[in-house]
Amino acid sequence: MSQERSDTLVLFGATGDLAHKKIFPALYQMVAKGTLTEPVIGVAFDAWDLKQLQDRARDGIVHALGAVDETVFAKFASLLRYVSGDYRDPTTFEKLKTALGSAQRPLHYMAVPPSMFETVVQGLEQSGTAHGARLMVEKPFGHDLQSARWLNRVLHLVFDEQSIFRIDHYLGKEAIQNLLYFRFANSLLEPIWNRNYVESVQITMAEDFGVEGRGRFYDDVGAIRDVIENHLLNILLLLAMEPPVGRSADDLIDEKVQVLRAIRTLTKDDVVRGQFTGYLAEPGVAPNSPVETFAAVRFFVDTWRWQDVPFFIRAGKNMPVHVTEVVVRLKRPPLDVFDPIKPADQNYVRFRIDPQVMIAIGAQRKAPGDDMIGEQVELTALDDSKGDMPPYERLIGDAMNGNGQLFTRQDAAELAWRIVGPVLGDTTPPHLYEPRTWGPADAMAGFGPPNGWIDPVA
Ligand code: BG6
Repeated sequence: MSQERSDTLVLFGATGDLAHKKIFPALYQMVAKGTLTEPVIGVAFDAWDLKQLQDRARDGIVHALGAVDETVFAKFASLLRYVSGDYRDPTTFEKLKTALGSAQRPLHYMAVPPSMFETVVQGLEQSGTAHGARLMVEKPFGHDLQSARWLNRVLHLVFDEQSIFRIDHYLGKEAIQNLLYFRFANSLLEPIWNRNYVESVQITMAEDFGVEGRGRFYDDVGAIRDVIENHLLNILLLLAMEPPVGRSADDLIDEKVQVLRAIRTLTKDDVVRGQFTGYLAEPGVAPNSPVETFAAVRFFVDTWRWQDVPFFIRAGKNMPVHVTEVVVRLKRPPLDVFDPIKPADQNYVRFRIDPQVMIAIGAQRKAPGDDMIGEQVELTALDDSKGDMPPYERLIGDAMNGNGQLFTRQDAAELAWRIVGPVLGDTTPPHLYEPRTWGPADAMAGFGPPNGWIDPVA
């Protein structure tokens, strides 16, 4: 596959929720910046006309951005086409072929439920519309190792690995890019970034809302599959990886894969699962569902650099705040030269991923006054959210340009499932927690980084 830009974007699932909430606003912003001038063909089952799709897109854009600029919207609307039909029906793909006209290198974006991936890919192949094309695949990529392997086989029958772009939208976030940049464009972290100085790493993804009408989807996945196996594990990889040897997509991904290979496969003792009270009453959730809406997980990376350093990830719905944050906590100084440093006051580096980009360092200074008594201060290196490019905008642009750096390669997708495999599908009832708390307190007692969790403050 050449690096030539795709000449049409085909959006399967064009009438769906993801298209409405994230994809249309991203495409609109690309049009506003002049980075999208190619036709966009929406495909979906609904028997809509083009006007209905344009109205739906407008609604999503207003929802996400507050308003539309009519000139930009007119430009965007003029790029839109719509093909309606059943993905199992070959005529749908014949209609798509007609809509594609003379396009040579379409990007097919599967924003559809995973159960439809195989059907769509086969339809593309049989109609000849896969030829010269790229494929972008939404998460979840499989349900476990076996299904991910199967899916990879199905995709590879039609597309080569270079043409497949598996999305993890977290990798498109500004703060995640910054984490990678900050680690490897500076020399200050490297001397301490290892088991000699780092005591623990904790990653918290707290959301202060429940499943928001996505009960049916969520009850099939749970917190571990929804965000830990992909988004948060990817953050861990960026924290733990070695410097890449070059700038190519594979150079970066190779280093992440090395970490994945070194992460111990989880056991039940590495996990605490919780469910917020009231989850069972959500529409689409099975009676007595054992699915977790909160999970705290301990990982170990068996490498020279990280041996015995615990990496904890916790993620939950209905937490007290909406923040995603990383805290890398350093060991205590070897000797208390002054007053004893309280365990909670050890040095740390904090990376905030959401809602804003922030990097801060926790340190001790002498408190003003007569005595040599210290106090904890935080040195904020960066605190902004200006100029953020929304992840979908970055990722769709990258896939159109054939740049796979921010996408998940086949081996990485499968290794991640290998790690979490033994703790998936647990049918024992999770520990209950009250909405707007930090998860099941009793079950969490004693489970976490040495010297405890640091709860993010909004
Ligand atoms: C999605 C999950 O992948 O990521 C959701 O399915 C979660 O449950 C979302 O809320 C979080 O992403 P963001 O970018 O909105 O914080």
